[in-house]
Amino acid sequence: MNIIKVKDPVAGGVAAFGIIKEAIAAGAKTLGLATGSTPETLYRAMVESNLDFSNITAFNLDEYVGLSKDNSQSYYYFMQEHLFKYKKFKQHFIENGLAGDLEAEAAAYEAKLQAHPIDVQILGIGLNGHIGFNEPKTSFASLTHVTNLTESTINANKRFFERVEDVPTKALTMGIQSIMRSKQIILLAYGAAKAPIIKKLLEGPVSEDVPASVLQKHPRVTVIIDEEAASLL
Ligand code: F6R
Repeated sequence: MNIIKVKDPVAGGVAAFGIIKEAIAAGAKTLGLATGSTPETLYRAMVESNLDFSNITAFNLDEYVGLSKDNSQSYYYFMQEHLFKYKKFKQHFIENGLAGDLEAEAAAYEAKLQAHPIDVQILGIGLNGHIGFNEPKTSFASLTHVTNLTESTINANKRFFERVEDVPTKALTMGIQSIMRSKQIILLAYGAAKAPIIKKLLEGPVSEDVPASVLQKHPRVTVIIDEEAASLL
């Protein structure tokens, strides 16, 4: 894996944007996007640039089950606020967390992904090593599916909600195999809290106990970390 150490999240966003810009110049047509705090500086760099995304198709990794598009905590809403209200894309897909048949929604999303292979996938990482919402012990062979969020993830994400009881307990997420099909992957992590999981990601065994460790097997991954996230390496 290629590791880029940066001063702070702003520099990380600029570095990730540089890779995306180069990929688009080289013909990339499909981006995989993440939500959470980490990619915010990347989206800011994209919004502040004059790069044209109108030929680009975007897929998001995951969406909470049970939140509507206009709920300010839904990932649909997050993407509008941080990127799509400023930049026009050709099309944007995100799982529908209100689908009546969630299994059918997951299968339909996976089919769409397979029809539009992802050129560059952006990832954050959970404190427990999740990528997307693929929690520890998710099969490396998993495709888009419905998942139960772990206590660690619910606790980490409660900062966005009024009460911990408001955090959804289920989500739809691209699977590990869906993520690993991407031609290129950029994983971003900032802050001291992420240092132990970054050490496991880069130096630990490849194991379904640490979903992100699967990235050691991918031929083209760039990990962008600030000094705090790199502090245990
Ligand atoms: C979000 C996602 C998650 C986050 C992870 C880190 O779409 O897939 O895996 O990337 O939970 O979240 P933050 O960036 O808030 O620390």
